[in-house]
Amino acid sequence: MHGRFPSHQPAGVHHISHRGGGLFDRCGRWASRDRIPDLGVVVGLPAIAYLIEPSLKTVASDTWIPLGKLENFEIGKPSLVTFTRSKVNGWEKSTLSYGAFILRKSQDEVTVFSNVCTHLSCRVNWDTDKQAYICPCHDGRFDSTGKVIFGPPPRPLDAYATKVEDGTLSIHLLES
Ligand code: FES
Repeated sequence: MHGRFPSHQPAGVHHISHRGGGLFDRCGRWASRDRIPDLGVVVGLPAIAYLIEPSLKTVASDTWIPLGKLENFEIGKPSLVTFTRSKVNGWEKSTLSYGAFILRKSQDEVTVFSNVCTHLSCRVNWDTDKQAYICPCHDGRFDSTGKVIFGPPPRPLDAYATKVEDGTLSIHLLES
């Protein structure tokens, strides 16, 4: 029956009207909720996915960090270099600081150690007198090659993969 809705509506235009658990179209035909897509769900899902997705996203980083010209590091003496990296994890942005000891063994032979103690992650320092990396937390000690010589550290200092291109030393950094 057509008299139920305003007659100025152009023919062929189907006006949808809410009535209880379903809808009436322009011709007054009942359309139950089963036959009508729930617009709230259709519109809401992508919006929710948009809101949630960044918080689940972790940006992994796999990169080479240049540390400087190899010739500038003294042979036989560990040199500390530090750098920072910004990291985005979902909504969170953080800045991480890194330290690395460069041990140049000869003109073109080099090893780069992380300065993070392998016991509980304190930062080690090079002690020239003792010729050792010393951890201030529990007196863990490592020799110049990173090997444990005293204390609780369970393994040698971690060494970075290195490369030298055009005289510049870089280390491979893998962040999760
Ligand atoms: S954290 Fe370095 S010895 Fe414990």
